[in-house]
Amino acid sequence: MPVIAVQHPLVRHKIGLLREADISTKKFRELTHELARLLAYEATADFPIEKTTIECWSGPTEVEQIAGRKVTVVPILRAGLGMLDGVLDLVPNAKVSVVGLARDHETLQPVNYFEKFVGQLDERTAIIIDPMLATAGSMIATISLLKARGCKDIRALVLVAAPEGIAALNAAHPEVRCWTAAIDSHLNEIGYIIPGLGDAGDKIFGTK
Ligand code: PRP
Ligand code: URA
Repeated sequence: MPVIAVQHPLVRHKIGLLREADISTKKFRELTHELARLLAYEATADFPIEKTTIECWSGPTEVEQIAGRKVTVVPILRAGLGMLDGVLDLVPNAKVSVVGLARDHETLQPVNYFEKFVGQLDERTAIIIDPMLATAGSMIATISLLKARGCKDIRALVLVAAPEGIAALNAAHPEVRCWTAAIDSHLNEIGYIIPGLGDAGDKIFGTK
């Protein structure tokens, strides 16, 4: 099962707060930031550790460090930007690749309008971030772009996933793990997640 619903009480509490219809832009941004941080904590739990010796106040001491991990965080514009700082809080040395995709409102297909990837993708762990996994068209397209550039370790963080999107992601990229704060009921007739959050990009940027 590549989609993992994070069960931590803080995550469950905060995703509930995020669903309030009259939430302010400020509050939506803050909660998105906090949830991104919590999801990043879960998604990095298997990063390998190695031993090293440092000069401690009491003399040479063996400590542990993350073993030579190169990471790129990949926000999907626009809404993914709202999760970026939360992930960078925990992985501050990560490089950032950016993919611009917008769903066509009629077809629900993602339209690619920007991409800027960092180098050495074949050596990096990619962490894609986007609050919404609806049809999963945007996520599937982003994973394909990363794979085409040689990326082999691809993970994703979303705030809300629809069962339809989970099935599509499973079929297209079964090896990619995706951590989500919630799995919701279904997509409505215009491709919005129910109960969902509404338009996450509009809520993060204060548009509409
Ligand atoms: C939203 C969301 C995802 C996408 C999810 O972005 O942030 O990128 O839709 O839908 P999907 O799973 O069906 O592809 P949108 O296209 O509205 O652009 P925005 O982030 O600029 O608002
Ligand atoms: N994009 C959003 O912002 N919200 C949804 O529910 C679906 C796609």
